[in-house]
Amino acid sequence: MNQKIDSLIALRHKIINNDKLSASFPSATNLVFGEGNPDAKVLFIGEAPGKNEDLKAEPFVGASGKILDKALSEINLDRKDVYITNIVKYRPEDNRDPSDEEKNMFLPFLVAQILIIKPSLLVTLGRHSMSCFIKSGTINALHGRLADIDFSIFDFEFLTKAPKKVFKLLPLFHPAATIYNRNLKEAWDNDFKKILNYI
Ligand code: URA
Repeated sequence: MNQKIDSLIALRHKIINNDKLSASFPSATNLVFGEGNPDAKVLFIGEAPGKNEDLKAEPFVGASGKILDKALSEINLDRKDVYITNIVKYRPEDNRDPSDEEKNMFLPFLVAQILIIKPSLLVTLGRHSMSCFIKSGTINALHGRLADIDFSIFDFEFLTKAPKKVFKLLPLFHPAATIYNRNLKEAWDNDFKKILNYI
């Protein structure tokens, strides 16, 4: 556990000290690295911090976070049991969607974060984080369907030494999508309950 905390702290420093990353997000106030239990069985991956997250340096603390917290409590989990992060860890200007280039810049750091935590299940929230791992298919078709992701698809040097390279991934809609499209609420609730089958 301490080893994981030390590795996460070192990774956080690597991101903070990466001038290219910070220069690419000039309006961001804080790095939103991720938080939760380093021994979590389930790791949630959202898209990018919004205004509230940027100010508090914590993921999912705004309206989407409330939906996530409620869904967690309905399956008797809370934030202390899980780990929550985003693919993009600085807030994109004006809350716009992260670009492919921004996602690619952060991808090695996200993969490294996953390899430290080694969860039993990855849960992507929304199409942006899903598409980092699943290269074809839409979120409408793939949500709630478990996939095995072999990290050998990524060309990162550090992966050659990783003992575990295949992770189970459950793609979910983004919680904010259930605010804008009430029809997705039922799918969100059903998909979320599936988490318990895999942890
Ligand atoms: N939406 C996300 O995808 N991530 C956050 O941290 C907050 C809102």
